[in-house]
Amino acid sequence: MKKIVVLALLALSLSLVGTAAIADIVGTSHDLTSNTTVLTNAGNTQVCAYCHTPHDASATNSTTPLWNHEDTQATYTMYSSPSLDMTIAGSPAGVSLACLSCHDGTVAADQLLNYPSGVNGPGIFTVGGLGTDLSNDHPISLTYNVTQDADFVAPVGSQVNGLQLFGGTGDQVECGTCHSVHDNTNEPFLRMSNAGSALCLACHIK
Ligand code: HEC
Ligand code: HEC
Ligand code: HEC
Ligand code: HEC
Repeated sequence: MKKIVVLALLALSLSLVGTAAIADIVGTSHDLTSNTTVLTNAGNTQVCAYCHTPHDASATNSTTPLWNHEDTQATYTMYSSPSLDMTIAGSPAGVSLACLSCHDGTVAADQLLNYPSGVNGPGIFTVGGLGTDLSNDHPISLTYNVTQDADFVAPVGSQVNGLQLFGGTGDQVECGTCHSVHDNTNEPFLRMSNAGSALCLACHIK
């Protein structure tokens, strides 16, 4: 009897794991096909197309895989502080620029390099968000180097407690380090729940 209950619980937990594993972008606010104010929504059922294209991807943002979104040309104010020990870039890099191409509000969310066949631009739908002043946001495009500040968890390869570090050297903190653009299981699109500040404590020893 006990064995059956254990097996039933095991099956239930496996199915819960299964549900989490298949959570995807469809139906989230990153599924722009479900956003009725998007001009290119007319006839477009391709969820991925707002960000990726199979051919002729962005040459300027080549670090974000097969990138299909019009780049932002904005100039940014980066985070700075006297107690910052690690090296921060002069402007946002790769994956962060990809996010900012929608979230700095200067380029329409549906302004693409290649529109799916049968769908035409230009984009009309602008997203709010961070703007171009990033000095009041958590630093990004920052080299994660624990030898410069001992109050941080050492990375394993290009991850810290499972959080992805980006860039050619696999050591850059970008928007995608804390956020999972395809998965809204932990709102708002977080890589892990921040209950009890768990996300912050994945890196910070405080
Ligand atoms: C709102 C923009 C957006 C949409 C829509 C989107 N992606 Fe992405 N995708 C990104 C960004 C940004 C990255 C790089 C950052 C990262 O890996 O977290 C990425 C990375 C990837 C990667 C490489 C890294 C990984 O996670 O394996 C794959 C594969 C991928 N996307 C596939 C898809 C597919 C398939 C779809 C449609 C079902 C899709 N994406 C929809 C923005 C998007
Ligand atoms: C193609 C445009 C596009 C790209 C690229 C994009 N987003 Fe979004 N994002 C949106 C839209 C549209 C929403 C819906 C919210 C709105 O309308 O303001 C959204 C919502 C969000 C939200 C939830 C906001 C809330 O208040 O619920 C987060 C967090 C977010 N995006 C982070 C990111 C990150 C991080 C990246 C890069 C890894 C990214 N986004 C890339 C278009 C985009
Ligand atoms: C150090 C981790 C971290 C980084 C890096 C990060 N975010 Fe976030 N972001 C969060 C957390 C945590 C929240 C949720 C805050 C809350 O609980 O309301 C959030 C919320 C958001 C929201 C929701 C609306 C808002 O302003 O609160 C957007 C949009 C967003 N982030 C976009 C971005 C973009 C774009 C980048 C890169 C430029 C980025 N984030 C970098 C942790 C991060
Ligand atoms: C991916 C790892 C990572 C995560 C997750 C993360 N941080 Fe950070 N954070 C850093 C790094 C690296 C710095 C730069 C530290 C330095 O240079 O001294 C930093 C800097 C900061 C600073 C500014 C320190 C200064 O001296 O100006 C604050 C405050 C901060 N983080 C708070 C948070 C909070 C709150 C969260 C959770 C919402 C969070 N961090 C999540 C890596 C992370």
